[in-house]
Amino acid sequence: MNEQADGGAVAVTGANSAVGKALLAQIAGRDTGRAVALVRREAALEGLPRSPRIASCVVTYEQPERLVETLAGADCVVHLAGILFESRTTSYRTGNVESTRALVAAAQSAGVRHIVLVSSLGADPRSSNGYFRSKGEAERLVIGSGLKATIIRTPLLLGPGTAGGRALLRTAAGRSARVLGGGSHRLRPLDVDDLCRAILGYCRESGASVRICAMVGPTILTQRELLQRTARLLGHDLTVRSTPVWLARLMTGLTGLIRTGGLTPAVIEVITSDEANLCVDRAPAGSLTPLSETLARLCETRAP
Ligand SMILES: NC(=O)c1ccc[n+]([C@@H]2O[C@H](COP(=O)([O-])OP(=O)(O)OC[C@H]3O[C@@H](n4cnc5c(N)ncnc54)[C@H](OP(=O)(O)O)[C@@H]3O)[C@@H](O)[C@H]2O)c1
Repeated sequence: MNEQADGGAVAVTGANSAVGKALLAQIAGRDTGRAVALVRREAALEGLPRSPRIASCVVTYEQPERLVETLAGADCVVHLAGILFESRTTSYRTGNVESTRALVAAAQSAGVRHIVLVSSLGADPRSSNGYFRSKGEAERLVIGSGLKATIIRTPLLLGPGTAGGRALLRTAAGRSARVLGGGSHRLRPLDVDDLCRAILGYCRESGASVRICAMVGPTILTQRELLQRTARLLGHDLTVRSTPVWLARLMTGLTGLIRTGGLTPAVIEVITSDEANLCVDRAPAGSLTPLSETLARLCETRAP
């Protein structure tokens, strides 16, 4: 039975994330389907898309009973809570691993049938990189849950509100920019709306009990090319200069001695990874938005 089309609820963790808002906007724009939006803080409810078919709930991952209550009645949970940048309050362990552990336990107790996890290209529980390792550990928890599991490994996500989209606009806005390694690493940016359509498709699907797929955008290009294309859409040319990756790693390694989080050697490794090499297969996601359209839409969101 097509549960979601028939009105079964999808629970969305990290609902105030960029992906969460885009997903809820798609649910709100459809004729059927209900969602429960989970956020950790009252203030995070503010910017959520509104619809009579979207309920919301403030719950933390340290409240196991409340988490179970919140998931009751959901057929599928889309787990979006997760971080790339650590901070004084959130580490890869708490943000990516322990949140997933708590979510999996609550989903099992609440009788949720299916977990969809948005993970990252490069996720690997044996990785020497703390971010990739934590994403791999989160995947392992979902795979070991005994529930139907869909894991979508994603590249840089572009769309209004994504961290990558904001950084791209900021960097491309000037006439020249200094970027790590001259931006020579290749990217496969994915439109956040394409990801959300795929997530909703997976939520409706019955079938294989564990599925791991990579979903990437239709164009491979270097970060330098991406910046220059975006700058041209903004009406100017961009000169890209290089900050050597080794120097950035050294500097962030040193600043890491006096503060936690922000730009770290681990983050530098992630954001300069070659996404064309990390991606081995791709999800059958239907037609993808051309990069030109994604970028045009992104540039429209830039304040004049
Ligand atoms: N954006 C990308 O390019 C990209 C690429 C690959 C994978 N992903 C993954 O896709 C998912 C959504 O990404 P996004 O960019 O839309 O996220 P985002 O906008 O950065 O939002 C992060 C979400 O995680 C929550 N969070 C932060 N620390 C947490 C903790 N300790 N415990 C539980 N929740 C915590 C945040 O809640 P608060 O607001 O309460 O802190 C927020 O809801 C994430 O898992 C991300 O790692 C994203």
